[in-house]
Amino acid sequence: MRLLFLMMSCTAFLSSQMFANEANPSAALFTSCAKCHGEKGEGNQEAKAPKLAGQYDWYIQTQLLAFKSGARKYKNAATCADGLSEKDITELSSYIKGL
Ligand code: HEC
Repeated sequence: MRLLFLMMSCTAFLSSQMFANEANPSAALFTSCAKCHGEKGEGNQEAKAPKLAGQYDWYIQTQLLAFKSGARKYKNAATCADGLSEKDITELSSYIKGL
């Protein structure tokens, strides 16, 4: 009986985690950023990709818009705002703030 309860709570936990991912498109978008910036946005010196976690959302947003418009240039950062709409940028910025 106890085992059954344990299995049920594990399943509930796992499905809530999966739901969290599905319900949050920014989490899905961030997987492409994680290649360079790290799973938790902790940064990666080898890729010369700075830490993003804990950064202000307005700062992330401003930088992504600057990459998108070409106002800010860096050879490897060309990919940062690739294919992102302004709405994606706003949502992703607040997601990153909470990493
Ligand atoms: C190919 C590697 C790569 C990928 C993928 C990538 N970035 Fe970057 N990113 C960089 C590098 C390198 C810099 C540093 C640019 C510089 O030094 O000017 C940077 C800089 C940034 C900055 C500016 C940080 C600051 O402190 O000024 C932001 C914001 C950012 N990236 C967000 C993202 C987001 C969001 C994604 C995913 C949608 C992403 N990046 C994907 C390599 C990457």
